Amino acid sequence: KPFSASILTLYPEMFPGPLGHSLAGRALENNIWSLETVAIRDFANDRHHTVDDTPSGGGAGMVMRADILARALDHSCEKHPDLPILAMTPRGYPLTQSKVRQLSEGAGAIIICGRFEGMDERLFEKRAIEPVSIGDYILSGGEMAALTLLDACIRLIPGVMGKITSGEDESFETGLLEYPQYTRPVEWEGLSIPEVLRSGNHAHIKAWRQAMAERDTRLRRPDLWERYRSVQASRPLARN
Ligand code: ADE
Repeated sequence: KPFSASILTLYPEMFPGPLGHSLAGRALENNIWSLETVAIRDFANDRHHTVDDTPSGGGAGMVMRADILARALDHSCEKHPDLPILAMTPRGYPLTQSKVRQLSEGAGAIIICGRFEGMDERLFEKRAIEPVSIGDYILSGGEMAALTLLDACIRLIPGVMGKITSGEDESFETGLLEYPQYTRPVEWEGLSIPEVLRSGNHAHIKAWRQAMAERDTRLRRPDLWERYRSVQASRPLARN
C-alpha cells in the first residue's frame, strides 16, 4: 500500500519534476509512493477547453470554474475514495510539520493545484476539501506548493530516508530551530569549529547546542520563541 498522490493541475508536465530525483525519486522508482496527474483541461466541455472565467463582481485576472474542477476531482475521487483532498492556495490553512507527519502516515492525498486568481469558492462548499498554504507569499500557481508538500511528506515515509532519527528531534518537533552544524576542516578562512564540539564532553555539547538553538530561535523566529517560552513556563519544575 504505497503512499498515493493524485495531482489535479493545468500543467501535468511539471510532475514529478524535482520529486523524480534524489531521495523522493529513488522512493518513486521503488514504489514506496506513487504519483498520478489529472489534467484539469481534459474535463473542460467546450472546444477551446476553457477552464476559467472572469471574476464575478469584477477585478483582475481569472477564476477557475467550479464545474470543471469538480468533474476532475470526482474522477480522481472515484479511483481514490479514501484519500483526503487538499487544495493548494495562499488562502489556505498554514502547512505545519504536524500536518505533514499526519499526511505521511496516511494513504496519500488528492491535491488540487490552483492557477489564476483562485478557484470558485462554491467548490469548497460542495466537496470536502482542505485548503492549504505553504507560506505567506504568492506563487504563480499551486504546483510548486504541491511539490513542496509532497517532498516534506515523502521523506517521512518509512524506508525513504536512511535511519537518521526518522525526523524526530528535528526543528519544529522540539519547538525550536535546529542548532548550528559544523564539519571539517577544523579551520576554514580563519574560523575554527567551536571548541566545545571537539571536547568529547557530551553534557557540555548538549547544553551548548540548546543555547544556540534558543539564541537563533529568539532572533529569527520570535513567533516560535514566544510559543516555546509559554510551554516552558507552564511545565512543572524538574526535581534535582
Ligand atoms: N498558490 C500560490 N501561492 C501559494 C501558497 N503560498 N501556498 C499554497 N498554494 C499557493
